Amino acid sequence: MPQENRQILKYADQPGYTPDIECYLRHGGYDVLKKALALQPKTLPDGKTVSGPEQIREEVRISGLRGRGGAGFSCGLKWSFVDRKSGKPIYLICNADESEPGTFKDKQIIYKDPHQMLEGMIIACYANDVHLAYIYIRGEFVEGAKILNRALREARAKNFLGKNILGSAYALDIWVHRGAGAYICGEETGLIESLEGKRAYPRIKPPYFPAVLGLYMCPTIVNNVETLCAVKHIVAMGGMEFARLGTPNNTGTRIVCLSGHVRRPGYYEIEVGKATIGELINDPAFGGGLRDGRKLKAVIPGGSSAKVFKAGERFKLKRRGPDGREVEQEVDMLDLPYDFDSLIAAGSMSGSGAIIVLDDSADIVEALSNIAEFYAHESCGQCTPCREGSLWMAKALHRLTNGQGRKQDADYLIKIADNIPGGRTICAFGEACAWPVQSFVGKFKDEFIARGEEDEARRTTASGKAHALQPAGASASGPDTKAFVVSV
Ligand SMILES: Cc1cc2nc3c(=O)[nH]c(=O)nc-3n(C[C@H](O)[C@H](O)[C@H](O)COP(=O)(O)O)c2cc1C
Ligand code: SF4
Repeated sequence: MPQENRQILKYADQPGYTPDIECYLRHGGYDVLKKALALQPKTLPDGKTVSGPEQIREEVRISGLRGRGGAGFSCGLKWSFVDRKSGKPIYLICNADESEPGTFKDKQIIYKDPHQMLEGMIIACYANDVHLAYIYIRGEFVEGAKILNRALREARAKNFLGKNILGSAYALDIWVHRGAGAYICGEETGLIESLEGKRAYPRIKPPYFPAVLGLYMCPTIVNNVETLCAVKHIVAMGGMEFARLGTPNNTGTRIVCLSGHVRRPGYYEIEVGKATIGELINDPAFGGGLRDGRKLKAVIPGGSSAKVFKAGERFKLKRRGPDGREVEQEVDMLDLPYDFDSLIAAGSMSGSGAIIVLDDSADIVEALSNIAEFYAHESCGQCTPCREGSLWMAKALHRLTNGQGRKQDADYLIKIADNIPGGRTICAFGEACAWPVQSFVGKFKDEFIARGEEDEARRTTASGKAHALQPAGASASGPDTKAFVVSV
């Protein structure tokens, strides 16, 4: 039976554990930083000498760590793209925007164990020759920003930050920058624009890959809060040991945010791929199952932008058998291991690690309308397909949830959604707003059509009654009929 394996959240919820530095130090805090700074240059069998920072980068590569912010991109590979020859400063930004609906893991780290995040950041900065780093925190985390600023002051006072850190000659400072509460500020290039003091318009890639042309057009690393915490654990246990946690290509632990119609919503740290979606929903150690008398209807597996799974959906997955050979297996959605690759193979993603559960009491049209409204509100507006498409989809869904739907709205929604992603937009928000519509309408089409038909039927009846109620000479299709429609 799968259990939590708390590495990052090891102390966060222990009684008496506080976010101040003294408590962190009592629990071995900053020992890993000391270890990192003490690494001596090593000569390899081929005669090449590798510095301490290079050794850390190699450990991160070996660990197989994949970013916990959404895309699941290899952290080691990302660091290897950094332009180290440009002569420009290299920056590191901790992405603490945490704005994907359903996601609330970074907040736990920031509020309960901020020094762990700082330690991970300092090690990552040391490994990448960064001397100035930023924490970009979402505007709504007012208390979180205060906690981090306090933690930074404490770390400076103990010389974990500043000049000549712990006598190592290494210098670093970190600053907190508060966002103003826009989802697009979590997208790394939008975040960089915002940090530069501008409107958070994402930049086009190429050429603006942060590793080459990031903050102030300098090489920049953007990593998620949880990813940076994992760096600390990789240096503590070694890359190989970290890679033994989880499953091949999906290594380490990750924090899963479980919300919606489960008995025990919350955050759970698991070894990646060691629990299935079904176990996370139903196991007493995790979600504890649905409410009495309820049946599962749908699962959004990786934050609101991930494609929804319908209860009972089955997928063909390629898995490696005990003899090492690849075999194709058909599995129920609930039996999908919660890892990066299985969910991609099933046509969705584990994204930011947020599972949203919908039971049969959920109105699927309402649920999608809610999501679409969010994306229409948050589109930055630079690209026509995203700006217009997200709005049209939200309007059509608003119609369907307000008695004004049409039978053809389901096809209309799919048509719009199909024309947003696929390289037509500057950033992945295009995909993020289209995927929920494509999957909700695609998988629950009968419910969307039925809603449109009901609305049309109601309007036809209403317009008949309205006609009967019209004074002589008035038209039943005129603007006044709306009053009758509403009252019927
Ligand atoms: C619209 C949009 C919103 C995003 N929001 C966040 C966010 O709130 N937090 C985050 O860490 N990454 C977010 N990302 C992903 C970042 O662009 C980036 O890939 C991530 O911070 C890299 O960190 P990682 O490699 O450690 O995952 C978002 C991406 C998009 C397209
Ligand atoms: S895809 Fe949407 S959010 Fe991204 S840049 Fe274009 S308009 Fe802005």
